[in-house]
Amino acid sequence: MIFERRHIISTKDFSREEIDFILDRAGRLEPYARRGGLDLLKGHVVATLFFEPSTRTRLSFDTAVKRLGGATIGFDSAESTSTVKGETLSDTIKVIESYADAIVIRHPREGAARMASEISSVPVINAGDGAGHHPTQTLLDLYTMRKECRKPIEELNVALVGDLKYGRTVHSLAYALSLYKARLSLVSPEQLRMPESIINYLRKQGVELVETPRIDDVLADADVLYMTRIQKERFPDPSEYLKVADSYRITPDTLKGVKDDMIIMHPLPRVNEIDPAVDSTRHARYFRQAFYGVPIRMAVLSLVLGKEA
Ligand code: NCD
Repeated sequence: MIFERRHIISTKDFSREEIDFILDRAGRLEPYARRGGLDLLKGHVVATLFFEPSTRTRLSFDTAVKRLGGATIGFDSAESTSTVKGETLSDTIKVIESYADAIVIRHPREGAARMASEISSVPVINAGDGAGHHPTQTLLDLYTMRKECRKPIEELNVALVGDLKYGRTVHSLAYALSLYKARLSLVSPEQLRMPESIINYLRKQGVELVETPRIDDVLADADVLYMTRIQKERFPDPSEYLKVADSYRITPDTLKGVKDDMIIMHPLPRVNEIDPAVDSTRHARYFRQAFYGVPIRMAVLSLVLGKEA
């Protein structure tokens, strides 16, 4: 399997074998995610270009590089860059590719990472492009399911809940889960349903799926409850956001009647979707999920940079 010099833009670009290969590799790197000691990226520079806010994604990429002995450069907001002087994304990429061995990019415009990859001579990793894709989040989500669920991914019933229209994490995850033929329950307000193009793709792949606005329809049967934030920043009209802002909220009460081993995931940040009282229940996995971003990003970076463990 060749990953060296490959761009990581969408989960749609991957086969199941390739995804499993990355997850296996993350498993081997996980011990080093906490303590370092494997200098696979020594002498390498990775650029993290974040034109949109981020906590976990940027810092876990940063941690991944440093745990592997590499260095990072970059910025965490467009305001501090020449973008405000009118520089185009294409010019920014042309410059950064001469400084760094790989580029991690988050941008508010859908398709921005793909465009960057067409210009860049070094691997580009999409860390979120508008409402489009977020492939490394999906890899860590699958890694979490693999590690934290008692059944293999192909036997899981996964409920995706919240903003399925603008949420890039659920778009990427749905594509990837279709490779495993996991069963999907899509729970969202009517206005925030999963885009028709993705639904059609899933159906064509033979995925068994149901759509409903009521979370109560899916709770008893779910193995994974994947909660998401309503993506306020993507709404063209703030009053439309207010109508759906608090559509779903998980509390210890909601969890009566769920499967014993059902796990709750969330890409974070959460707003009101999960009551903090749920954190101490046996179902909560979202903080561990966030940690898994480090071994996953160590795996992805070392692969695209051709550094075999
Ligand atoms: C997500 C994102 O940026 O798409 N966060 C993340 O990367 N963990 C989810 C979100 O912002 O709601």
